[in-house]
Amino acid sequence: MALSTGVLRPAILRVAHHPWVRRLVTRTRPGRAVATRFVAGETLEQAMAVAVALDRQRTAAMLDHLGENVETDEQAAFARDSYLAAIEALAAAREIDGAISVKLTQLGLDRSMDTCWANLAAVLDAAEAAHILVMIDMESHVYVDATLAVLHRAFERTPSVGVAIQSYLLRSQRDVFDLPARCRVRLVKGAYLEPPAVVYVDKRDVDASYARLFSTLLARGHPIDVATHDPRLIAGIRRAVDATEDGWSRVEFQMLYGVRRDLQARLAGEGYPVRVYIPYGSEWYPYLTRRMAERPANLWFFLSNLVRMR
Ligand code: FDA
Repeated sequence: MALSTGVLRPAILRVAHHPWVRRLVTRTRPGRAVATRFVAGETLEQAMAVAVALDRQRTAAMLDHLGENVETDEQAAFARDSYLAAIEALAAAREIDGAISVKLTQLGLDRSMDTCWANLAAVLDAAEAAHILVMIDMESHVYVDATLAVLHRAFERTPSVGVAIQSYLLRSQRDVFDLPARCRVRLVKGAYLEPPAVVYVDKRDVDASYARLFSTLLARGHPIDVATHDPRLIAGIRRAVDATEDGWSRVEFQMLYGVRRDLQARLAGEGYPVRVYIPYGSEWYPYLTRRMAERPANLWFFLSNLVRMR
């Protein structure tokens, strides 16, 4: 088992929850410096500038206005309005192949299902009118049932919506059989701190689960976003899709802003469909902690800069 996944990842995510750690990261220069590697900026304009630059490299964009687990209806309405603004900006920049990605807890899921649905429905309707795809991120395992229920309701309203499925969750192997027929799926490994009872804890099992899920989704006719930076999985998937007749019409690679830019550019240069997930906004701390936990070298970079500052 890789040390980073088996031991360090949960440890980093656990420590990151402490308010003093949050203050240390968000209020110091090294913390903000690490954030700028993974976050496009705090404004929609900065995110759009990244999308325009990526478009020049034949890479599509997916805007993610950062935020999660909002506590008030006003915060949820603010998130909805931020997405409406993002849809408007993408609609105005027609040369960009752009989509948006939302988190249901950002749209009010912790407040009530009704609040969340009302906000999501407004986003779905605006996105459909602008011919823009809406993807629903998958958050921690306690939200999976609600997220899949919302997905079914959303898919009845518009086919331009899809969901992320996490290969580290044991249940995902069953969940993929209950998705709406041919709805778009973003396949990810999973980034949250989860109890061992609900996930594969060994990285090799997470990777094997990813490969199995991909095969199932491909065979069942789903459009699939292969959202990983893992070169081994990417190579296997390339071979599998190359061997099909129409696979590349419904499979694309997706990666995170700031992660494996070399691989993003290489795949796009070779003519494969690539889309980059572009997070922006002021609520970047939880997102950043997940990126740090995935690769402890990111954390060492932050700590060494912090020590140098003293
Ligand atoms: P893995 O962790 O095995 O990494 C493979 C290689 O990628 C590493 O060896 C390293 O080179 C590079 N790498 C990975 N992470 C890095 C980092 N943070 N910094 C630097 N290098 C890094 N998760 C979730 O739970 N719900 C969701 O909705 C989404 N959505 C999403 C969208 C998109 C487009 C992507 C690419 C990812 C997500 N994720 C996600 C995150 C996902 O679950 C996962 O945590 C990360 O993608 C890292 O895992 P990899 O698949 O890249 O493999």
